[in-house]
Amino acid sequence: LVLIIDFGGQYNQLIARRVRECGVYSEIVPYTVTIEDIKRKNPSAIIFTGGPNSVYEDGAPRVDREIFELNIPILGICYGMQLTAFMLGGEVKKADKREYGNTTVVVDSNNDLFKNIPKESTMWMSHTDYVANLPEGFVNIAYTDSCINAAMANIDKKIYGVQFHPEVKHSQYGFDVIKNFLFNVCNLKGDWTMSSFIDEKIEEIKRTVGDKKAICALSGGVDSSVAALMVHKAIGKNLTCIFVDHGLLRKGEAEEVYNTFKEKFDMNLIMVDAKDRFLGKLKGVTDPERKRKIIGEEFIRVFEDEANRIEGAEFLVQGTIYPDVVESGTGTSAVIKSHHNVGGLPEDMKFKLIEPLRELFKDEVREVGRQLGLAEELVSRQPFPGPGLAIRVLGEVTEEKLSILKEADYIVRDEIKKAGLDKEIWQYFAVLPDVKSVGVMGDERTYSHLIAIRAVESVDGMTSDWFKIPYEVLDKISRRIVNEVKGVNRIVYDITSKPPATIEWE
Ligand code: XMP
Repeated sequence: LVLIIDFGGQYNQLIARRVRECGVYSEIVPYTVTIEDIKRKNPSAIIFTGGPNSVYEDGAPRVDREIFELNIPILGICYGMQLTAFMLGGEVKKADKREYGNTTVVVDSNNDLFKNIPKESTMWMSHTDYVANLPEGFVNIAYTDSCINAAMANIDKKIYGVQFHPEVKHSQYGFDVIKNFLFNVCNLKGDWTMSSFIDEKIEEIKRTVGDKKAICALSGGVDSSVAALMVHKAIGKNLTCIFVDHGLLRKGEAEEVYNTFKEKFDMNLIMVDAKDRFLGKLKGVTDPERKRKIIGEEFIRVFEDEANRIEGAEFLVQGTIYPDVVESGTGTSAVIKSHHNVGGLPEDMKFKLIEPLRELFKDEVREVGRQLGLAEELVSRQPFPGPGLAIRVLGEVTEEKLSILKEADYIVRDEIKKAGLDKEIWQYFAVLPDVKSVGVMGDERTYSHLIAIRAVESVDGMTSDWFKIPYEVLDKISRRIVNEVKGVNRIVYDITSKPPATIEWE
């Protein structure tokens, strides 16, 4: 285990991922972690992350000094380096100018941390404070034009610090620095694999659940699908999955869930057709937030109704993944977004939770899915909002509008796939604005709906840019929709980024 101590830097999850990519299991803990907890976890190495503070300020995040006496190798990154220097008696100062972006760093290639890294390379910098004087026992192992101590080392104690960010892709040899730290400095093995993780998890679930029963709300999304599959491997038919079809899914989606989980994996699956219930509740409602709320609440009711019919279920499976845990758990980084997933069930349900994906990042969840035999279409599915098409049918949701949107959206997906763009575009879909416009079809005047096409590139949905779909593909989509979908006579393309727009229209 490599323990990553979080000081609130924006790249912290990246550090954890890079370490795992090296085949070494890593966990992020807040800087408030106690020294007893650290000892109990008995990590083979510790990494201090960056952070927004200055170490010499009152109230700046610190660690227990004893951490430096545990004989565990430490790598401090950015703030983590400054903190190490400061706490061990070095001096940290504010520079006149911020050093930001790609920077040429000159390293001591003889040092273990920089083995096989050229003397000069580009690394990513983002700091104003710097280590002006090294603590006793430390030597300088890198510098830049404006930063005298761009890296430092106490070789005997295996305590290292780098001012640059090795975890970001902009750092040319950043990943090598992390590898060198793990393998060269700490002599770790790198034998943590996804299949060993899966085996261990399945054993753990078996032990926890025993011969008791568990239930799971299956949405068809990647996380709940993989979580359900994993628990199914552990306890078989003692797991019952409940799939609530709220009628707001994309074309073919409910069938896909049935075929995968019932037909292919032979799981205990209850399909609940709740279309009328949801549409009834949504009748006449136009406010986007109210629509979301109604759907969320109704989902819970339907799920509860079904769950109560299953006798003796003690456990509830949830597809919580690591970024959800870190974002809401460590308290050091700002809460980015409250998740309003339809699958978010209330805590007062009398179940014990099983969250088999709690330690995994999204790409790791996908890898588990692949190893458990989930089809690539499902594994690499684009994000889909919990409230479904209800927030893409703007204004009141009616059966007629839903059916128009489903057909149009199907064509968008089909053509994007045929053009080979489905892996490239982060999210793409059709929207049905609450607008009609005049057109002409044959000799007839029409007054019909319009469809907007939305396609974005993004990393995590927090920001995004509109994707430049080639004109030929747009043309094809447009022609097909107006020809094949009754009630549509105009297509527009959404060319706004986020911010100022959002990805969804509601
Ligand atoms: P926005 O529209 O906020 O969307 O730019 C960002 C990402 O989040 C998805 N999204 C949701 N997901 N429940 C969800 O589970 C929701 O209520 C919801 N609203 C937006 C959206 O599809 C995009 O990927």
